[in-house]
Amino acid sequence: MKKPLLIVVVVGFFNAAAQETPTLKKTYKDYFVMGVAVAPRMMDAGPEADLIKAQFGSMTAENAMKMGPIHPEENKYNWAPADKIADLAVQNGLKLRGHTLCWHEQTPRWFFTDSTGKDVTKDVLLARLKQHITDVVSRYKGKIYAWDVVNEAVPDGGTEIYRKTKFYEIIGEEYIEWAFRYAHEADPNCRLFYNDYNTENPVKREKIYQLIKGLRQKGVPIHGVGLQGHWSIYEPTAEALEASITKFASLGLKVQITELDVSVYAKNQPKTDIPYQGKAEFTQEMNDKQAAHYKMLFEVMRKHKDKLTGVTFWNLSDKSSWLDNFPIRGRKDFPLLFDANFQPKKAFFEVVNFSK
Ligand code: GLA
Repeated sequence: MKKPLLIVVVVGFFNAAAQETPTLKKTYKDYFVMGVAVAPRMMDAGPEADLIKAQFGSMTAENAMKMGPIHPEENKYNWAPADKIADLAVQNGLKLRGHTLCWHEQTPRWFFTDSTGKDVTKDVLLARLKQHITDVVSRYKGKIYAWDVVNEAVPDGGTEIYRKTKFYEIIGEEYIEWAFRYAHEADPNCRLFYNDYNTENPVKREKIYQLIKGLRQKGVPIHGVGLQGHWSIYEPTAEALEASITKFASLGLKVQITELDVSVYAKNQPKTDIPYQGKAEFTQEMNDKQAAHYKMLFEVMRKHKDKLTGVTFWNLSDKSSWLDNFPIRGRKDFPLLFDANFQPKKAFFEVVNFSK
């Protein structure tokens, strides 16, 4: 007779434990929405979909809405993968961010060339950009509340404000404002963001600031700045993050952290195709450093909750992330709050345990 009772007690204990795991979305409900970058396959029933629904209040398509994947040929859109994400968001009351309408990478080749392979004219490229933005924004009108309109238009080094991309080469700097105007026309209620990385570098921060200030002075419809937040356990400092949030907010814009991950390796290592030879090990030291770093980042973010409207993690768990192959092929990284078995890491508890 004793055994069943024991089972009831044990099951009861585990249920209570499961119920007690705090969630990012509830813990941060009075601060900002907590989001995650996802792939269409994660929408299928399973542990990833469960984790997304349990923990997050918002999603971003990691790749499915980028120019190349969604618009591979001039007269062909590949809506299905992006729709799958939008459908799950609508069905479960999750917010959805759009990423991204104009970026120089993952752009289809046809976009810039005519049938003979020559660069198209400025007028043709603007018309294509308008068509693309209008079609994509209209399709998700009312489902997507914020779009990253232009991504990474500013180079890291040098004094130049504009990255020398194909858009810049053919259209000139005005491609940026046109992209925002087209998006605004297609969905006037959508919040439109400029999104970039390395925004805590003082030189790049200043260049982005000047760019956006210019857009604001011209009356271009822009509402927010996305700090990608591809950071590491060694950077940024609290002061540098604070300086970015405050500076961009001073332009009258909302700020979001749009692609947060904290790599366990130092940044700025050159990209290489030589496969990584080291061990894939998440050491105790990495665990502690990462937890402390996440704690500090979220302290700063909470302090600026009046300026921040969202924080999105770039991938769900350490099972797989884009950092597993970047910048070094085959080098496993451990950048997120959930481990490869979808269990919360030490860093997770540092993010959710704070005195309110
Ligand atoms: C940039 C882009 C993202 C993504 C990452 C790598 O940050 O904005 O869409 O491609 O690189 O995943």
